[in-house]
Amino acid sequence: MPAASGTPPIAVVILAAGQGRRMNSLLPKVLQPLAGKPLLGHVLDCARQLFPAAIHVVHGHGGEAVKAAFGNDGDIDWVLQAEQRGTGHALMQAMPRIPDAHRVLVLYGDVPLVAVETLRRLVAAGGAEGLALLTAEVAEPHGYGRMMRDSGGRVVSIVEERDASDAQRAIREINTGLLAAPAAHLREWLLHLRADNAQREYYLTDVVGLAVERGIDVEAVAATSEAEIMGVNDKCQLADAEAALRHARARDLMIAGATLADPTRVDVRGDLSVGRDVYIDVNVVLLGRITLGDRVTIGPNCILRDATIGADTQVYANSLIEEAMVGEDCRVGPFARLRPGANLHPRVHVGNFVEVKNTEIGEASKANHLSYLGDATIGRGVNVGAGTITCNYDGINKWPTQIGDRAFIGSGSMLVAPVAIGPGATIGAGSTITAGAPADKLTLTRAKQVTIDAWTRPGRYAAEAKAAKVEDAMCAPGRPKPEN
Ligand code: UD1
Ligand code: CA
Repeated sequence: MPAASGTPPIAVVILAAGQGRRMNSLLPKVLQPLAGKPLLGHVLDCARQLFPAAIHVVHGHGGEAVKAAFGNDGDIDWVLQAEQRGTGHALMQAMPRIPDAHRVLVLYGDVPLVAVETLRRLVAAGGAEGLALLTAEVAEPHGYGRMMRDSGGRVVSIVEERDASDAQRAIREINTGLLAAPAAHLREWLLHLRADNAQREYYLTDVVGLAVERGIDVEAVAATSEAEIMGVNDKCQLADAEAALRHARARDLMIAGATLADPTRVDVRGDLSVGRDVYIDVNVVLLGRITLGDRVTIGPNCILRDATIGADTQVYANSLIEEAMVGEDCRVGPFARLRPGANLHPRVHVGNFVEVKNTEIGEASKANHLSYLGDATIGRGVNVGAGTITCNYDGINKWPTQIGDRAFIGSGSMLVAPVAIGPGATIGAGSTITAGAPADKLTLTRAKQVTIDAWTRPGRYAAEAKAAKVEDAMCAPGRPKPEN
C-alpha cells in the first residue's frame, strides 16, 4: 500500500550499532532473542507495516553477525557506523541515503515492543515541517533522557540521565528515543551537534534544542503503554520485555476467544491463529506458525512449532508437535512426539511414547503405545500394536513402509523397510517382517518357545528358591553371579 497522496514518503532509520555493553554477552544486543526472535527483528516487522519508502539499519558493533542474521531480508539498506559515537552520529551515517522530501522515522534496535499504531501517530504528528518525539510518563525514569518543558509547557530540550541535575532527574516524562522529522531539517540540525556532554557522544536528542531555536514546531506524542517504549539494555530488561510480550499475546489470545488456564504460563513465540472455544493449559509453548481449530484443547507442558491442529482434537500433556498436521477429532499424547512431516488424518489416535516422523496416518487409525513410525504411509482404520517399529534406516538410507487399510499390526513387531503390509493383513505379535505381508492373511514370524526342564538357577538364587519351595519356571540366564 503506497503512502496516501500529499503525505511524504517515510524513510525508516533503525539505530542498531551500539555494543550493548550492559548485556554482558558475546551476542550483539540487537540479536538478543525476545520471544524467539532477535530484538531487531521485532523492530523491522513493525516498521514494515508502515510500508516505508526505505528501511536503513545503522549497524556497527558485531555488524557482520547482525547482517548475517537478516541476510535474506532484501528490503534492508545496511549503513555502517564504523565507530559508535552516539545516536546523533549514527543517524548522520544514514542521511546521505535519504532524499530531502522524505519524512524520517528514527527507531531504536533496542526498543522492540513499539506498536505500529503509535508509529503512525508519531509520523503524522508535527505536520509537514515539525519534529515529533515519542515520550512517556513512567514510574521509574532511571536511565532515560528527561523531557524539559518551559513555563508554557512547550518542549525545549532533552537532558540525558548522566548530564541531568537532581531536580531534572525527578522528572518522570521521558524520551523514548523514537522521533519523526523532515529529512531536510534533520540534515541541517545534525551538522550542529556537538559532543560536549558526559559521554563525549553526538546525542540525537540535541536536535530538539536546535529545532526550538529555529522556531520549528516540536510535538511530544505520548506512548500508549509503558511496555511499548521499553528500552532493552540488560538481561533484566530483556526478561521484563519478554514478560510484557507474553502478557500482551496472552491477552490477544483471550480476546480472540481462547481460554487460558493461566495467562502468565503460556508462551506465544510465533503467529498463532485460534478458532472458537480453544482451551490451552499451563506451560504451553507455541512457536512459528500455528493454527488451532475450533474446540481444540492443548494439555499442560506441550510444545508446538509450525503445526496445524484440526477442530475438536485433543492434545494431551507433555506432547511435542513440530512441522506437523493433525486432522479433526484426533487424540494425541500424553507424551507423544510428532516430528516434521507427520500428517494425521481425522480421528487418528497417537498415544504415549509414540514418535511419528514423515508419516501419513489414515483416518481413524491408531498407534496408542510405544512406537516409532518413520517414512510410512498408513491407511485407514489401521491398528498399530504397542511397541511396533518401522525399521526405516539401514545406516545409510531411509526406506519407506506401507500399511494398507484395516491392517492389524500385532504388538512388538519390527517392520523392516522397504516393506508393504497389505490391506486387512494381520501381523502376529513379535514378528520381524522383512518380505511384506499379503492382504487379509495372518503373517507372523516366531521363534519356537521352549522350556528347559533340567535347568536350575545358579548359586544363591537356587538356594533361595529351594528354601521357599518355589518351583519357578522362569529362566534367568546371564544374571551376574553373586560375589560369594
Ligand atoms: C537513548 C536516548 C535517551 C532515551 C533512551 C531510550 C540519546 C542520546 N539518548 O539513550 O534519551 O531515553 O535512548 O531508550 O539518544 N546506537 C547506535 N550508535 C551509537 C550509539 C547508539 O547505533 O553510536 C544505537 C544503539 O544500538 C541503540 C540505540 O542507538 O539501539 C540507543 O542507544 P543507547 O546507547 O542504548 O542509548 P540510551 O543510553 O539508552
Ligand atoms: Ca538504550
